Amino acid sequence: MKPNFLRNALGALLLVLAFPAAHAQGASAPPTDAETGLVMAPGYPMVKAYCTLCHSAKLVTQAGKTRDGWVESIRWMQRTQGLFDLGSFEGEILDYLAAQYGIKAQMGGMLKLPPLAAELMPPLPPVSAPR
Ligand code: HEC
Repeated sequence: MKPNFLRNALGALLLVLAFPAAHAQGASAPPTDAETGLVMAPGYPMVKAYCTLCHSAKLVTQAGKTRDGWVESIRWMQRTQGLFDLGSFEGEILDYLAAQYGIKAQMGGMLKLPPLAAELMPPLPPVSAPR
């Protein structure tokens, strides 16, 4: 009983210690703009100026799209919502959106923890011999 209890307590302690470490990784991420919540990475001033004119920046920060997906959204807004031609700034805006609000960024935010290291994974079942 006692060694089991100790092992469980140690496991719980390790879990508690591991979580702040996972959090600390996020601390090195670029800062976000207090007003809009947009990540302050290259291209951010342009996005703050252009993409918060008609709606909250939350529509941007909650989204996660591929670069093509962002192009599609912009074209849709241009076709149906009165968004103007972004001209020579479009490339910079798309670079920013794809980098900061891409599919990967969204997945990372949802999963929080990195995948287990290969050596920590359970062994694979034996591959069945070909018939
Ligand atoms: C001329 C006004 C206008 C501007 C400027 C504008 N949008 Fe929009 N956008 C809209 C409207 C209207 C909607 C629909 C809002 C709703 O459904 O409530 C929308 C919806 C969205 C959506 C949600 C729909 C989707 O496609 O996922 C995203 C994301 C978005 N905008 C991003 C942007 C970005 C990025 C920019 C800057 C390049 C931008 N918007 C600039 C008008 C605008």
